[in-house]
Amino acid sequence: MTETQSQHPDSIINTGLRGVKVASTRISHVAGSEGKLIYRGYLIDDLAENATFEEVCYLMLYEKLPSVRELGAFSEELARRRAIDPEMIAALKTRPSSSAPMDILQAGVALLANHHTHPGLLTRGNELDIGMTLIARMPTLMAAFDRIRNGKEPIALDPDLGHAANFLYMLTGTAPDPEIARIMDICLVLHAEHSLNASTFTARQIASSRAHMFASVSGAVGSLSGDLHGGANARVMEMLLEIGEPGAVDDYIRKKFESGDKIMGMGHSVYRTKDPRARILQPMVRKMGERTGEPKWYEIASSLETKALEAFSEKGKVDIHANVDFYSGALYYQMGIPVDMFTPVFAISRISGWVAHVIEEQFAEAAPKAMLYRPSADYVGEYCGPEECSFVPVDKR
Ligand SMILES: CC(C)(COP(=O)(O)OP(=O)(O)OC[C@H]1O[C@@H](n2cnc3c(N)ncnc32)[C@H](O)[C@@H]1OP(=O)(O)O)[C@@H](O)C(=O)NCCC(=O)NCCS
Repeated sequence: MTETQSQHPDSIINTGLRGVKVASTRISHVAGSEGKLIYRGYLIDDLAENATFEEVCYLMLYEKLPSVRELGAFSEELARRRAIDPEMIAALKTRPSSSAPMDILQAGVALLANHHTHPGLLTRGNELDIGMTLIARMPTLMAAFDRIRNGKEPIALDPDLGHAANFLYMLTGTAPDPEIARIMDICLVLHAEHSLNASTFTARQIASSRAHMFASVSGAVGSLSGDLHGGANARVMEMLLEIGEPGAVDDYIRKKFESGDKIMGMGHSVYRTKDPRARILQPMVRKMGERTGEPKWYEIASSLETKALEAFSEKGKVDIHANVDFYSGALYYQMGIPVDMFTPVFAISRISGWVAHVIEEQFAEAAPKAMLYRPSADYVGEYCGPEECSFVPVDKR
């Protein structure tokens, strides 16, 4: 960049858009320096302890916690929408068993639009209707795909089970122990929403063109799949598996720091403290290890966290801490969930936040009014002279 360019305000490039405010939101707040996360005014710690995922979905969609009657009706509505069409099952059966589940989910969300009467009718009611369908159906889609790729038939939902328990049931074929179902439920509560992270921004950005809910969510799933975002939970588990035993942590960290590789599940673009969701998940992993008789995943992860913090600190990087993905994988792994299904588990929770954001992007009345996102780029490509390049026909090049 030349001196003249760097002095011109138009040439300042905000790579990663850190700290750039593009919207007002009533949905959630991430207080990065305090390590706090709030969903519509409620502290995540309180919700994780007391709320179900269904209550959190209601909070996301209707901006208040439901009454007993409202929650009952909402849960029934989710149950009513949970099953996927036979054509969808047939489509899943045509996919190679090697397909990445997140690719299946992204394509599956787009395909679900084909089964909706008016996917493109942009009214608040229709977008909410689609949102409900996606919240209900994404877990079914993922559970069905996992069974099909393993040569098994998909399992119909159990109307007596809640959202989290139904997912585990449809995935494994066995109704989960209530304690395990509650652990999954808490994981869904913790991942439901996180303000303008990459995937949510993607969803809002797509929605800003007045594309429909299916298109916005499908794009968001693609964004979530990346290793720096939702994909990190699977990478963390691969790291724990590679380390293998608590005694191997020191060696692993030394090698990682020597090679300059990142420690997955650590660092965050907003939190400057430990992620409050990691604080909640950590003791859950310890308890899960006691339950399964395999404490080593907790021991490896907690030792890795402590030693990585020391190593970061020695390098003067005191604000890199464990994020939500650091401890969630060890929980899913001990529940028997395949590693490549960890990020889909994140997605079947985050759908609630995406739906709320798409609706806010398209229908919020508060100022400033949302506009079609259209940032600009600093052109640093070729000019073949004082003006543009002159076109040379293909046979003359
Ligand atoms: C999430 C993440 C992209 C946020 O990054 P960010 O705030 O934009 O910060 P950067 O990636 O620019 O990193 C800033 C510095 O910290 C280092 N750093 C950040 N996270 C790190 C990690 N997990 N391991 C090692 N170093 C890390 C970077 O290498 C960089 O060092 P440098 O200044 O010497 O080049 C980053 O922390 C990361 O890649 N983490 C691992 C992936 C992950 O867990 N993602 C899930 C997020 S919820």
